[in-house]
Amino acid sequence: MNNSAPPLKLGICGLGTVASGLIELVTRDVSRVAECASRPLAITRIASRTPRPSIMPDSAEFIEDPFALIGDTEVDVVVELIGGVEPARSLIERALELGKPVVTANKEVLARHGDALFSLARARGLPIGFEASVGGGIPIIKALRESLGGDAISRIVGIVNGTTNFILSRMNEDGASFEDALAEAKSLGYAEAVPDYDIEGLDAAHKIAILASLAWGIPFDVEGVRTQGIVGIRLDDLAFAERLGYFVRHLGLAQRVEACIETQVFPALVPRSTLLAHVRGVTNAVQVTSHAVGSSLFIGPGAGALPTANSVLSDVLDIANNRAVPWDAGRAQRQDRNAGTDADSQSSSAYYLRAQVDDKTGVLARVTELLAGQGVGIDALLQPEIEAAPSKAPAAGASIVMITHKTAESNMREAVACIQAMPEIHGQVSLIRVFDGD
Ligand code: HSE
Repeated sequence: MNNSAPPLKLGICGLGTVASGLIELVTRDVSRVAECASRPLAITRIASRTPRPSIMPDSAEFIEDPFALIGDTEVDVVVELIGGVEPARSLIERALELGKPVVTANKEVLARHGDALFSLARARGLPIGFEASVGGGIPIIKALRESLGGDAISRIVGIVNGTTNFILSRMNEDGASFEDALAEAKSLGYAEAVPDYDIEGLDAAHKIAILASLAWGIPFDVEGVRTQGIVGIRLDDLAFAERLGYFVRHLGLAQRVEACIETQVFPALVPRSTLLAHVRGVTNAVQVTSHAVGSSLFIGPGAGALPTANSVLSDVLDIANNRAVPWDAGRAQRQDRNAGTDADSQSSSAYYLRAQVDDKTGVLARVTELLAGQGVGIDALLQPEIEAAPSKAPAAGASIVMITHKTAESNMREAVACIQAMPEIHGQVSLIRVFDGD
């Protein structure tokens, strides 16, 4: 580091989990950070609705109004850690208009307004660092943008939301209830300010929209991501899945399907023999398939203060070291390859189906008949209560659990609608896709 160089003055908007991690990284190990930068870093201003004097660095002045922070001459780089769309979008726009580089962890604002914001940044010749927006501490943005920037990517699949993976792991491994596991994820700082974003799949959809845009140069299109979360997945689904040789994971998928880029997030039964099945807790994993490299897997903590703050810091260091560039050339060249997204793709999959049934002869036969009527065959079948007490017919509330052969989604949904309408069925039939990597 050049100690005589003027410090790069950071203004942080937002004082939540990631900001606290960034303050810790920048201020607790100053000499190590200094070794990585060609000039000193100084956090000079922090804006937040809620002051947290206990974590404020000595170098920083607290301001309530984030727009005042952006205009402040004591701020060279704006670090946006507020989250959500507004005021984050306006703050980033304002910072760029004032000629200040931006670093953000905000996946929602990029997934919804990335095209306009990156276009403004390009016009001003300014970088927007966004490594922390996807995968927490995993350097997946740089990997796609730089390391795999020349390769032809055909598919990105993985676990991109730490909270849902944490919840599914705690339920499966420790028998925790959904509610308790979610409360724990919140207390550990993994969940979004509105945790519905995690459990209903929106957060993962934002991230998949960003990864798809990076991989194929297509516009950010979060509305085009078919989005299903993990609400409604029960402890017994996880246990039955495990007996059948699978773990349940919440996946994000972006893939080229003929001329289209298909994007979706969904819960899935993943074979226990695969790497993704063994990604536990808050860990994220992104598997990229590309022409030259083949398959590469990026894995690490997907949320949490220090891992995510490290991604923010890496973007700040790129700016300090003059190696941050506007996201431009590759993207502009790729526009002609923009295939658009296809929300209606009907690729075929196997499915897990669980139904609570009445104590009546012929119910299983009727269920299989309805499936066969849509051309859906059965690959594996469990009748847990009958297996436990073979001499007895299933009592009310007994379960039929099966894995189907591969079938088109429309056929499966048609069959399930008919099964759901049977008078012998209790509650909601559970339908989860099986993802075996094909
Ligand atoms: N709520 C997000 C998650 C935070 O759980 O993955 C990191 O983006």
